[in-house]
Amino acid sequence: MKALVLCGGSGTRLRPLSHSMPKQLIPVANRPVLIQVVENLRELGVEDIGVIVGDHRGEIEAVLGDGSAHGVRVSYIVQHAPLGLAHCVRLARDFLADDDFVLYLGDTVLVGGLTEMADGFRVRRPAAQIVVHKVADPRAFGVVETDGAGRAVRLAEKPAEPRSDLAVVGVYFFTAAIHEAVAAVSPSARGELEITDAVQWLVDAGREVRVHAHTGFWRDTGRVEDVLECNRELLEALEHRISGDVDAASELIGPVVVEAGARVVRSRITGPAVIGAGALVRDSHVGPHTSVGAGCTLDAAGIADSILLAGSSVQQVLGVHGSVIGRDAAVGRGLSVGAVPQRHRLVVGDHTRVEFAA
Ligand code: G1P
Repeated sequence: MKALVLCGGSGTRLRPLSHSMPKQLIPVANRPVLIQVVENLRELGVEDIGVIVGDHRGEIEAVLGDGSAHGVRVSYIVQHAPLGLAHCVRLARDFLADDDFVLYLGDTVLVGGLTEMADGFRVRRPAAQIVVHKVADPRAFGVVETDGAGRAVRLAEKPAEPRSDLAVVGVYFFTAAIHEAVAAVSPSARGELEITDAVQWLVDAGREVRVHAHTGFWRDTGRVEDVLECNRELLEALEHRISGDVDAASELIGPVVVEAGARVVRSRITGPAVIGAGALVRDSHVGPHTSVGAGCTLDAAGIADSILLAGSSVQQVLGVHGSVIGRDAAVGRGLSVGAVPQRHRLVVGDHTRVEFAA
């Protein structure tokens, strides 16, 4: 079985982070979501992965390379405009040949159950097997109606009035039957070739489309709130490991990872929390549910339920909560020379959100 991982899309809901970094590379529990996707695929025995890339090709290649570091072979396929998921499958026709494959959206965080899904597909080999998750409000997703016996009967993409509570998760299993379907569909109202329409085409053609209900954790990292939710979830599985230095005046509570070269000085870290390689945490309170990236500096800071990307810093600011701080960004007090301390000085990029407590 091959895999096709989609890393196009502009990630508008994740601005400003997505201005400089594709959302698939946003670190959650200090590891890019895309790496976790590739490792999940590897666990299924997938060795050949086609990655659809758009404008962010360079950054994605810099992280994944040829895949050998992760035990897979990665081929890059360029999509010049975001014309839909079914369009991606069309573009990958040569790469996929007539093999079975998993289509996996590169911003999907899914915990557990993948092996079971893949085994079910391999044994039965329906034309398609789609993965769904019960959600309270499925209007932002593909929605599936089933016959009650595990077969899809109708699909709709982001319907205003959903006919079921089963949302399509960004993981699909296909046989080569999908190629005829993606060739047959035409653009939707939003101007995209929808994979949902292609799967409906299979249903209409009388082909078997199975529905697998995933009951474990699932989120696409579309919005900052989702990224933080994924961070909380993945940190819950953290195993305590101290590879860096923690001084005697510091206190670690619960599962904490301190990576090599990181230093924790006169601080309290409440797990689950991870302190990245080479980071400095001094006179600070960190966590729970906080991921501090490599090379970050926390000095007299208080931060919880947050993600700090590599090289960023928080100095002399308490009560930072539910925050995502971009690479090499600095949050602090009077950092600029000559600034009047009572004033707030902000150098904030496009689409950034800054919220003051008072
Ligand atoms: C896509 C699919 C949708 C699915 C969703 C899952 O939507 O079109 O059917 O439910 O991924 O994340 P998009 O995120 O591209 O709008």
